[in-house]
Amino acid sequence: MVKICCIGAGYVGGPTMAVIALKCPSIEVAVVDISVPRINAWNSYQLPIYEPGLDAVVKQCRGKNLFFSTDVEKHVREADIVFVSVNTPTKTRGLGAGKAADLTYWESAARMIADVSKSDKIVVEKSTVPVKTAEAIEKILTHNSKGIKFQILSNPEFLAEGTAIQDLFNPDRVLIGGRETPEGNKAVQALKDVYAHWVPEDRILTTNLWSAELSKLAANAFLAQRISSVNAMSALCEATGADVTQVSYAVSKDTRIGPKFLNASVGFGGSCFQKDILNLVYICECNGLPEVAEYWKQVIKINDYQKNRFANRVVSSMFNTVSNKKIAILGFAFKKDTGDTRETPAIDVCKGLLGDKAWLSIFDPQVTVDQIQRDLTMKKFDWDHPLHLQPMSPTTVKQVTCVWDAYEATKDAHGICILTEWDEFKNLDFKRIYDNMQKPAFVFDGRNIVNVDQLREIGFIVYSIGKPLDAWLKDMPAVA
Ligand code: NAI
Repeated sequence: MVKICCIGAGYVGGPTMAVIALKCPSIEVAVVDISVPRINAWNSYQLPIYEPGLDAVVKQCRGKNLFFSTDVEKHVREADIVFVSVNTPTKTRGLGAGKAADLTYWESAARMIADVSKSDKIVVEKSTVPVKTAEAIEKILTHNSKGIKFQILSNPEFLAEGTAIQDLFNPDRVLIGGRETPEGNKAVQALKDVYAHWVPEDRILTTNLWSAELSKLAANAFLAQRISSVNAMSALCEATGADVTQVSYAVSKDTRIGPKFLNASVGFGGSCFQKDILNLVYICECNGLPEVAEYWKQVIKINDYQKNRFANRVVSSMFNTVSNKKIAILGFAFKKDTGDTRETPAIDVCKGLLGDKAWLSIFDPQVTVDQIQRDLTMKKFDWDHPLHLQPMSPTTVKQVTCVWDAYEATKDAHGICILTEWDEFKNLDFKRIYDNMQKPAFVFDGRNIVNVDQLREIGFIVYSIGKPLDAWLKDMPAVA
């Protein structure tokens, strides 16, 4: 029986391995992690991450051919194929701080693999890593190998949180990069055989190692660039009276452009886009390509601009101050159908409003109070370290309360910011909400999900990103 071990039981390792176990009953899959609470949660009824469809997959295989364990060394030793899906945060200090990927966790995983292995293994990079990481990993493994042979493959993951299970069941493509040697080709074939259990062969692409590594960074950069492009347009729409929804619809009808990823919003978030672009920028700089680096840097700059612009719009609309005003925040996760808050634009918007001394009442159907308090007190990039290494929040932010209901959050509020596009926010009883708010009552829709005309009819002053401005807002001071 082929044995697979995956180091890192996170948003990628957990769902990916659960789907491999489901689709390949003849393969035994162990997912290991140094975090005891995380593994305990994977072995419980309350999985550590919320992802539609994940519960059912885990329930079907757990205890049969899918195991979650903290005994990292045992499972690595026994495995034929070792996936490494640990976090690869942005470096916070030293050379390349604020840009380069921090490969501490990856390196320590590689050294451990070399230490405990007693048989030949295929080591698969599942984490997103800088180009040429495989070469560094290869060196660590071969210099410590005691005669054991390792083949390194790059198999970046393209799943999107919120649709991870569907993406894994039916991927646009699976990408496998390997050394172009007989041993490398054999290893690529072995991994191809795993995916071939359910992925059509023409969707399994094979490339050299460096192309696979770079393709993942390139794909994320292209996706984020589309969001920044439409967000840049949203600012121009507000200035000219055009409607960004109409503009992006018209643009999307061009088959060369297509409809996906063209919704204007308060900005992109998630653990990957910013980190991977910063990483790309750093690689460009290191390779003497400052113009290329500058080009990709703009994608992040526009995203920061959009988040600031939104927070400034809230403050300027409300007579240039939100001091001591209650603002309801609807949605904190970086997108709907996930509880993930890593790099969520809600953090920047909330910090902006707290900076102006607002009182925030936050509701998100999937994010805990503890997580929100942690996010609002944590330093940039600290979130991307294993939980036990993250600084504990020393004090809670006293201007923030978290509630479990949108009506409670909005009661007596002066304004509402919609920051995540949860479906349930579309069907709220806005008349009831309006009646219970301070007047004038404001809605700032950072996801363009409300019916602006209906809300204006109720009496709200509405700001919706990239839409023609409310007469009220036009008279307010311009926002930076
Ligand atoms: P995560 O932070 O949820 O999970 C990583 C896990 O690795 C943590 O539970 C941590 O405790 C564990 N870990 C760290 N060092 C370890 C070690 N030495 N031994 C055992 N366990 C260790 O991260 P996530 O989101 O799963 O991402 C992992 C990688 O996949 C990153 O490189 C990310 O860029 C990439 N990726 C993430 C996607 C996403 O949607 N979250 C999508 C595609 C790629």
